[in-house]
Amino acid sequence: MAKVMELKKIETEVRVFGYDELPAEDRELVDAAKGMTRNSYAPYSKFHVGAAIRMEDGRIVLGANQENAAYPSGTCAERTACFQASALYPGVRMRKIAVAAWTGGEFQGKPISPCGACRQALVEYEKLYGPMEVLLYGREGVYVLPSVSSLLPLTFTEF
Ligand code: THU
Repeated sequence: MAKVMELKKIETEVRVFGYDELPAEDRELVDAAKGMTRNSYAPYSKFHVGAAIRMEDGRIVLGANQENAAYPSGTCAERTACFQASALYPGVRMRKIAVAAWTGGEFQGKPISPCGACRQALVEYEKLYGPMEVLLYGREGVYVLPSVSSLLPLTFTEF
């Protein structure tokens, strides 16, 4: 007999804060991500992205997108940051990640959200260490998500 169709709904919780409403610790993380847009190497897209990860011990690990003439060889800010965090501090939980983008002479009004490849990379550390909160900065508001997996439901993790 044919299986009866079942409907599953997946919900993503996004809290939108004004920058000033964030706790000081989170403003510091967002500021670090904004500052890192200046370290982006983006001569091709001119889209400068910064990321900052708050580690379990409180330290902040930074990243910025790094492009390349052979386009796919470049890397996003989020992967630069999480790979650096894991390489420098293996085994230390990444508690939060903040992301900001600068283009056309200003920060983006609407937050940008990590690409699929970055979500996949980040979620692996989340599976190892526990939820990593996501703070996506925009001039019009900061989106706060409880975890990377909430951005990547039905995640492929292992086989
Ligand atoms: N990029 C990031 O660094 N993070 C994102 O979340 C989206 C896109 C970079 C990749 C590329 O260097 C440029 O932004 C344009 O896509």
